[in-house]
Amino acid sequence: MFDIKVFENMSIESKLDNMLLMLEGLIQDEDLPLTKLCNASALINALIGRINWCGFYIVKNNSLILGPFQGMPACTKIEIGKGVCGTAALKKETILINDVHKFEGHIACDAASNSEIVVPIVKDDKLIGVLDLDSDEFDRFTDIERNYLERVVDILNKHINWDNII
Ligand code: SME
Repeated sequence: MFDIKVFENMSIESKLDNMLLMLEGLIQDEDLPLTKLCNASALINALIGRINWCGFYIVKNNSLILGPFQGMPACTKIEIGKGVCGTAALKKETILINDVHKFEGHIACDAASNSEIVVPIVKDDKLIGVLDLDSDEFDRFTDIERNYLERVVDILNKHINWDNII
């Protein structure tokens, strides 16, 4: 059972520390990688807060393909190097955008989105995909989210065999 009310009065850091613990608990005994990503997207969506989209794009045939997510329907294929997701994937670096309307080439999926953070998923130097979060607030994401979401990706890398995930 999951009760979001438990986290209501916690500091951001305590909430996100709990998110990491729960993520590890949720996925370590699961068999299927896709199932792990489904619950990971739901957990992040519930605990990060003030976001309108959260999910995964996974590399297939040198493009990013939509994976498990929470939010409005989104574009299903993004070329590496295109948009915020494709740029983070190309650079293998986290990208934090305070105002997506000022990012040339931003791909708008949900018209409500105003800021975005994209964390690449890289294992043994190989690009696996990206974790993407959008918010309808400007300047929503800070180094706190960057730090915790990069640790989310470390936990996923530890527990997921990415071969043939899609
Ligand atoms: N905004 C992203 C596209 C994906 S959606 O936000 C879900 C981008 O520019 O790559």
